[in-house]
Amino acid sequence: MSRAAPSALVVYESLFDNTAQVARAIVRGLHRAGFEAHSVPVTSIASTGPVDVDLLLLGAPTHAFSLSRPSSRADAVRHGAAPERAGTGAREWIRTIGPERFGTSRVAVFDTRAARVHRLPIAAGVTAARLLRRRGFHLLRNPVAFLVEGTRGPLVEGEEDRAERWGRMIGAACLDELDHAA
Ligand SMILES: Cc1cc2nc3c(=O)[nH]c(=O)nc-3n(C[C@H](O)[C@H](O)[C@H](O)COP(=O)(O)O)c2cc1C
Repeated sequence: MSRAAPSALVVYESLFDNTAQVARAIVRGLHRAGFEAHSVPVTSIASTGPVDVDLLLLGAPTHAFSLSRPSSRADAVRHGAAPERAGTGAREWIRTIGPERFGTSRVAVFDTRAARVHRLPIAAGVTAARLLRRRGFHLLRNPVAFLVEGTRGPLVEGEEDRAERWGRMIGAACLDELDHAA
C-alpha cells in the first residue's frame, strides 16, 4: 500500500520579502523531495487552526543578532517595510505553539542575515531553535542562514538556488526519519 505524500509547512516572517523568497525556494525543494508543501507568512498563520504535517519549517530575518521584536520591526517600517508585515513576528508566534498544533515535533529553522556580518554566530535561527526546543520541538538539522546584500536585500546571488537545494535536503532527511519510525 502506498503512503500518502509527506507534507510540510513553511512559516516565515519577512519585512522586505527576502525571507519570503527563501521560503518559496525551500517549498520548491521540498516538492522535488516529494512533499506536499506550501509557505505562509507568520502574520496570517495565527488565524489558521491546527494542521497535520510531517515537518514544520520556520524562517525569520535577523534583527539585532536575534529574532525581531516590535521595536526592530518598527525600525524596518521606517526603512520602507509595509506596516502590515510588522504586526507580529516569529518570536511572538513561537510562544503560542507546540507540537500538538502540527501533529509533529519535527522542525527545521532558517534565517536571513546581512552578508557583511554573516560570520556572527548569534542570529535569528539560533534564537528560534532555542525557543522551539523549549516548546517541545525537535530540530531535524542545525539552523541554516541565507545571505542578503543589505537591510532591504536583495538576496546574495546564488542563495535562492541554495535554499531550493536545502529544502530538498531537509525533505530527504525527514523522509529518512519517517522510514526509520515506520
Ligand atoms: C532593525 C533591523 C536590525 C537588523 N539587524 C541585523 C543583524 O543584527 N544582523 C544581520 O545580519 N542583519 C541584520 N539586519 C538585516 C536583516 O537581516 C535583513 O533586513 C533581513 O534579512 C531581510 O529579510 P526580510 O526581507 O525577509 O525582512 C537588520 C535589519 C533590520 C531592519
